[in-house]
Amino acid sequence: MKTVKILSACLFLVFWTSCTQESKTKGDPTIEQKVEALLSQMTLEEKVGQMNQISPSSDLTEVAELIKKGEVGSVLNLVDPKAINALQQVAMEETRLKIPLIVGRDVIHGFKTIFPIPLGQAASFNPELVEEGAHIAAIEASSQGVHWTFAPMIDIARDARWGRIAESLGEDTYLTSTLGAAMVRGFQGKDLSDPTSIAACPKHFVGYGAAESGKDYNSTFIPERTLRNVYLPSFKAAVDAGAATFMTSFNDNDGVPSTGNQFILKEVLRKEWNFNGFVVSDWASVTEMIAHGFAKDGKEAAMKAINAGVDMEMVSYSYVTYVKELLDEKKITMQTIDNAVRNILRIKMRLGLFENPYVDVDAPSVLYTAEHLQKAKEAAIESAILLKNDNGTLPLNETIRTIAVVGPLADAPHDQLGTWIFDGDKNYTQTPLKALQKEYGDKVRILYAPGLAYSRDVKTDGIAAAVQAARNADVVLAFVGEESILSGEAHSLADLNLQGAQSELIAAVAKTGKPVVTIVMAGRPLTIGRDADVSQAVLFNFHPGTMGGPAIADLLFGKAVPSGKLPVTFPKMVGQLPIYYSHNNTGRPYQGNETMLADIPLEAGQTSLGNTSFHLDAGAYPLYPFGYGLSYTTFSYANLNLSSDKLKATDTLTVSADITNTGKYDGTEIVQLYVQDCFGSVTRPVKELKDFTRIFLKSGETKTVTFTLPIQKLAYYNIDMDYVVEAGDFNLWVSQDSQKGLKASFVVE
Ligand code: NOJ
Repeated sequence: MKTVKILSACLFLVFWTSCTQESKTKGDPTIEQKVEALLSQMTLEEKVGQMNQISPSSDLTEVAELIKKGEVGSVLNLVDPKAINALQQVAMEETRLKIPLIVGRDVIHGFKTIFPIPLGQAASFNPELVEEGAHIAAIEASSQGVHWTFAPMIDIARDARWGRIAESLGEDTYLTSTLGAAMVRGFQGKDLSDPTSIAACPKHFVGYGAAESGKDYNSTFIPERTLRNVYLPSFKAAVDAGAATFMTSFNDNDGVPSTGNQFILKEVLRKEWNFNGFVVSDWASVTEMIAHGFAKDGKEAAMKAINAGVDMEMVSYSYVTYVKELLDEKKITMQTIDNAVRNILRIKMRLGLFENPYVDVDAPSVLYTAEHLQKAKEAAIESAILLKNDNGTLPLNETIRTIAVVGPLADAPHDQLGTWIFDGDKNYTQTPLKALQKEYGDKVRILYAPGLAYSRDVKTDGIAAAVQAARNADVVLAFVGEESILSGEAHSLADLNLQGAQSELIAAVAKTGKPVVTIVMAGRPLTIGRDADVSQAVLFNFHPGTMGGPAIADLLFGKAVPSGKLPVTFPKMVGQLPIYYSHNNTGRPYQGNETMLADIPLEAGQTSLGNTSFHLDAGAYPLYPFGYGLSYTTFSYANLNLSSDKLKATDTLTVSADITNTGKYDGTEIVQLYVQDCFGSVTRPVKELKDFTRIFLKSGETKTVTFTLPIQKLAYYNIDMDYVVEAGDFNLWVSQDSQKGLKASFVVE
């Protein structure tokens, strides 16, 4: 096997960065001069104040005092525009150097108008829509005085037990990179100084999603090669998209907490990627290094974080307390402090905060506008994934006269918004029940009997009424899933079955013999095999946000056609986790004909079951694979064509295939391109997503989809930790999900 080293200057750049392109992170000379001029006037106390972020208590006079003393560079969790202006006025008029505050807030999937949770948005495979959603969030948040969001969350998440999978863009490096960069562009707009732009903060740097056993804040053990091949590219893509700030993660990877990790912050982020924004710690993650056992007290924690390159400390106050002592003891240098302050001032200047520190409280409201709600509805439609649809149960047609609406999520305005909705207001939520009544109530009779009050409800008294409604209806719509509190930060689960008596409810209505459509709204993949088995159709929605109701109603009645694809693998059983499509093959891959638990003869011989990599009870396949999702129509794939089957590392391969809409409905298909590097200097994944596109096809229509695949896109960190394309054999698939597809092979010489 020969190694083809490509463009050595670009060794550490991921494939989608053009080597000649001027890095967007390079400083603007005018801003740099202003930063230096200001820095040269600052006292040590003023410098350290810039490195301090606080979460104000309700007593703002106390906060004002701290600002006056120059102890605060940033506040988070303050969203009252008048209060923000008042504090900003203190910074601008009552401090010596008049340095504005930067106001941060978790604006994760919408500010007021709540879009589907990020995992849902990822199911759209639609970067333009994701960018627009982030831009709308920025417009709304900036109108209330927010300058900076702690998003996008671009942790690769392969374990559905982890509650924060909800905030992620799923399991795949390429999809997360593409959509994460789109979010950065959406938040930051064309120019960071535009009043409707807010600074992005890709997080959590890095590896947080690999928390052992999916338990939040848990340790990770990601070796450098996997870190570089799987976990770092989405962050590199965010830097290339111009991200202004970064947040460190809570986890320790192989024993080093990210907030004290010089390798990731100095070597990778600053040296290899030339990032010149600023790095903020996560909430108290500086002093949490004491609990980690990495620092013995606040002083050592501050030293380790500062020396690692954490420019701003979120809420734990150790910088303000210890910097002077640490300097006196020569444990940190003035140069390090100056660099941190430079990074922070640079972003404040790029945001235009010195010129426009205040928010216009008299401007007309841009919250919950019709346009924003319409976009949120579009996003909810594109995020819905049809997992099952036997006998064309969906869409509901004219033969349906009466529908039974059951389940605790049918009318749960708070829960359908999902996690991280600090500013979302449930009074604006449009639930499925309300949308069905409003939009379709004149066409069908709606019998509403929730059966259960909330997702964890185990009181089964209400199920009888739901069964009665089912008997009186032509079809049952069962709205089940998770309350929003069951996913998100610190909300991990070890059991991913539907909570409470929800499975019992579905089974009971299914027993009536009426067709059951199960509509799930949840913050993570769930082990819904048993529920899907007794349902004729399953429509899965990661918490869909404010407009989830109208989106789902239109999908159920065929006014919209589902197109979402899973951004994450669904396990059959929790014991399969972590599970993801781009795993390595092992020396003994599963064959699919192994003896399963129920079929093992008594006293079977030890080697008689098939010595391959699988679980005796679950096999090796998931319930639903990454990239999977049905439509009301069907698509066929044909005529896979490669421009060449022998290429050089510097070539570009053109791949085309004809996609035909073979069904009755017009619809959108997400066509996926996967590649396998068959033999490497280290073992390689069985396949990896390299591109995707959305195409709309009218019923009966055929379109040729063409992908251009620069061979550089196949580079990876190899046995020598060089970023290279290795010569050899490759397989390629053009497909509707990660399990099927048209296959071809080519060679890189
Ligand atoms: C802790 C979370 O981990 C992080 O994602 C969030 O941005 C901060 N808190 C600020 O709220």
